[in-house]
Amino acid sequence: MTADSPASADVAHLDIGGETVELPIVRGTEGDDALDIAKLRSQTGYITLDPGYGNTGAATSAITFLDGEQGILRYRGYPIEQLAEQSTFLEVAYLLIWGELPTREELDRFVTEVTHHTLIREEMRHFFDSFPHDAHPMAVLASGTVGMSTFYPDSHEIFDADAVEITINRLIAKLPTLAAWSFKKAIGQPYVYPRNDLGYAANLLNMMFAVPSEAYEVNAQVAEALDLLLILHADHEQNASTSTVRLVGSTHANLYSSISAGISALWGPLHGGANEAVINTLENVVADGGDVKKWVDKAKDPDDPFRLPGFGHRVYKNHDPRATIIKRAAERVLKATGADDELFDVAQRLEEIALSDDYFISRKLYPNVDFYSGLIYRAIGFPKNMFTNCFAIGRLPGWIAQWKEMIESPETKIGRPRQVYSGAQARDYVPIEQR
Ligand code: ACO
Repeated sequence: MTADSPASADVAHLDIGGETVELPIVRGTEGDDALDIAKLRSQTGYITLDPGYGNTGAATSAITFLDGEQGILRYRGYPIEQLAEQSTFLEVAYLLIWGELPTREELDRFVTEVTHHTLIREEMRHFFDSFPHDAHPMAVLASGTVGMSTFYPDSHEIFDADAVEITINRLIAKLPTLAAWSFKKAIGQPYVYPRNDLGYAANLLNMMFAVPSEAYEVNAQVAEALDLLLILHADHEQNASTSTVRLVGSTHANLYSSISAGISALWGPLHGGANEAVINTLENVVADGGDVKKWVDKAKDPDDPFRLPGFGHRVYKNHDPRATIIKRAAERVLKATGADDELFDVAQRLEEIALSDDYFISRKLYPNVDFYSGLIYRAIGFPKNMFTNCFAIGRLPGWIAQWKEMIESPETKIGRPRQVYSGAQARDYVPIEQR
């Protein structure tokens, strides 16, 4: 494979079976260039094989830039550190979905829209009644999300700009209500209706923790920390759940079903479910006597399937910039809530030992976004099985932005990977008596 003067060449040349094929080079704005192999099969008969898609670009996208080697994350060009410091979750949602930071007027309109769609249809209460009390909140959230499409048939009009806008606003407004009600169902408490006088994060906290029998006051610092967590989770380019949303959306399924599929993908412990796994591990370390080194050794043992949850990332081979911000936020929340958390102490010791250990250094394994986020959720009072629901609320604007970009792109085709078949060659059917 050659590319004449790679920095400026428009094509690379691939020698294959004595033939030379030209592969166009697609240039990204931040130097992340790609070989366009779309015609490779028709020209050569070959496909490319990349299980896990570690080296496969599935889209050109103008939403999020991340450089895993340098630990850089930007939404629409804005550094995550600046957004975390100066913005709000709804402003970031607007930025991701509509492409630019809103003016005051645009933001006010967006916030008003989102705030006035927070109620879910009353018939949906029966959905919650029908689930078993110990249903995992992620299952309820995914079901409720696709269930909403039954109430809003306009969501099937995916090329109608007005229908798309109202679907987007409904989703952002209603997901916290679904998430909070899935929790109330699990603990047998009455559902708490949204309060439109509260901010986005404060309303979620109120729906989660208020009860009709006594007053509940939202702690402003806690609401601020939750808003920050939502910002940090809001997009992460073509991760597993986002790719799922794009793939389902590429079939022209409606936005509710695409997002529901993304929620299901996020559930897995190798993805959004890792924050729950981190707390389980920290609890196990404490219950086991607090010997942090023993658990680091366990994670390094090739004969032990255990891996340190919250460490490592497919793309970041340096500090995950979100983890750095979250660690500082965890300190603030623990202070604000007065929680003296032994697990935070264990987490810091684990991090310290892992970061000075050759196994982790040589594999470039650093704490990821999930390592400290679970500690914040825990200090706020969320039970472990609600952590990933909160992550889903945060990731929602990113999923929507990526879906919208995909639907609007003239390059989009139905997502349909190929395979290298490795099964039996053609053979004749054998009747059951002869097998
Ligand atoms: N603990 C111990 N060893 C690890 C860890 C870990 N957390 N993560 C990776 N490794 C090791 C692997 O065993 C492998 O070692 P080897 O080369 O000796 O075989 C090497 O590091 C490379 O790991 P891969 O599995 O090839 O990396 P991949 O990019 O496929 O996986 C993943 C990334 C899934 C995140 C992985 O690091 C992991 O399982 N981490 C724990 C789960 C987690 O925190 N997930 C959340 C990710 S962030 C998010 O989704 C929001």
